[in-house]
Amino acid sequence: MKRIGVITTGGDAPGMNAAIRAVTRLAASKNIEVLGFRRGWEGLITNTFIQLNARSVSGIIQLGGTILHTHRSPEFEKPEGIIKAAQTLRLNNIDGLVVIGGDGSFRGACDLSEETETLIAGIPASIDNDVYGTEETIGFDTAVNTAVEEIDKIRDTAISHERIFIVEVMGRERGFLALTVGLTVGAEVILVPEERDPKEKIVKTIQENAEKGKKSGLIVAAEGFGDTHKLARELEKDAGVEVRLSVLGYAQRGGSPSARSRLLANLFAKEAVELLLDKQGDRMVGLQKGEITSITLEKSCKTRKPLNFELLKLANTLAT
Ligand code: F6P
Repeated sequence: MKRIGVITTGGDAPGMNAAIRAVTRLAASKNIEVLGFRRGWEGLITNTFIQLNARSVSGIIQLGGTILHTHRSPEFEKPEGIIKAAQTLRLNNIDGLVVIGGDGSFRGACDLSEETETLIAGIPASIDNDVYGTEETIGFDTAVNTAVEEIDKIRDTAISHERIFIVEVMGRERGFLALTVGLTVGAEVILVPEERDPKEKIVKTIQENAEKGKKSGLIVAAEGFGDTHKLARELEKDAGVEVRLSVLGYAQRGGSPSARSRLLANLFAKEAVELLLDKQGDRMVGLQKGEITSITLEKSCKTRKPLNFELLKLANTLAT
């Protein structure tokens, strides 16, 4: 292994920079050259890269975002884009490629692996935590903490005004972020796309809570649950309470990575570089039962990560 490439793709996640730094320094310690392709798959399609070395990744472990930039690349979804990316890898004699990204990134990596001899190692990084093969992705813990900090503040105003707040968090079509955030802020209701509570059930919960003396409350909703603006209007009408909506938005994707996100970045990078040194390609590293391990990229892309419904049950029990 003489030269590797590294890219960050999909939505950025806090800790991606820590992963770039760790991959670069681990490779450099084995005298492996590192090319950082810019703007995700786009960098491979257009052959745009920067040389990375131990010094050039100084001072980035604490930075949110990604110094390599990222991009949602429609061209990479077409066969021509994938062929161009494979040509770039061949042209630059890249022996191994580290892909740092979310579930969409690994679907792309799977397609690319069929066109290239270059070994691919995936590092899961996404605030959505929706990648199969790892209990946690880089950036998830940071996003959870960002959301919790904001929602604790919203709780103050909810109590003062005796209002119900719906807080919408990110997560695309999955409810991992909403579930962990909801549980840890003590939300009265958690709404996830995987279990679509009917409006009547939410109204009943609000009314029962009011009867118990709970005049305010938090509803944490995953963005994939549905139209929260509409839900706020309907709850106000049907439950006869004041409802406000707060959409947390992109702040959840930014900020300095938490210690946990940095730790995962370092451990995942170590496993990814070791896989490449071992000539094991087309795998994605992950955390399973407290161990750093790996599964095939194919298994990761083709399997839907299950939501932990026991956690949802726990959150509902604790919210009484
Ligand atoms: O996948 C990360 C994520 O932030 C999702 O939670 C969200 O739905 C999506 O990216 C937003 O994508 P974009 O950056 O393309 O608007």
